[in-house]
Amino acid sequence: MLICRTFAEIRDAVGEWRRSGESVVFVPTLGNLHDGHLQLVELGARHGNRVVVSIFVNQLQFGRNEDYALYPRTLDADVEKLRSVGASALFCPSDAEVYPNGIEQQTTVTVPTMTDILCGATRPGHFTGVTTIVTKLFNIVQPDKAVFGIKDFQQLAVVRRMVQDLCLPIEIIEAPVARADDGLAL
Ligand code: PAF
Repeated sequence: MLICRTFAEIRDAVGEWRRSGESVVFVPTLGNLHDGHLQLVELGARHGNRVVVSIFVNQLQFGRNEDYALYPRTLDADVEKLRSVGASALFCPSDAEVYPNGIEQQTTVTVPTMTDILCGATRPGHFTGVTTIVTKLFNIVQPDKAVFGIKDFQQLAVVRRMVQDLCLPIEIIEAPVARADDGLAL
């Protein structure tokens, strides 16, 4: 599995695969991976030749009272788990490359109306943080398809709307809920 830390590295890898006719499926994550994430990767592998997983703890989607600093960062363990399910590449960019002008100055992408209800009602700015980073990651990685879990139902609906409204040439694959033995959604 390739480990790409810069935009240039992941673009080179994906560009080479696509030039040789292989399709690329993208699984964006915040890291701290568990079986639920690994099932997204396995589903992705059934929809294309290569699966690229990103790990990026995206400050822009965390609210003021949400613990961005305390979010678990477990890169070494995550790398081993991704190897075990045969991911082709891990993309783990730096904050400096993703947000070169800082998050306050970042141009944002907002899906209107549907982001102010449900989860969005109590997490102002959260979905703008998600759609902004997902747009950036799509532009950097340039996959054919991307996998999102139905567990985060509102996020899935918002991403689908964004892809449609912005005419992004990416197919969104919906992954079913993965559950622990006691039924808890992972
Ligand atoms: O669902 C997540 O883990 C995040 O919201 C995502 C899609 C990786 C964007 O940071």
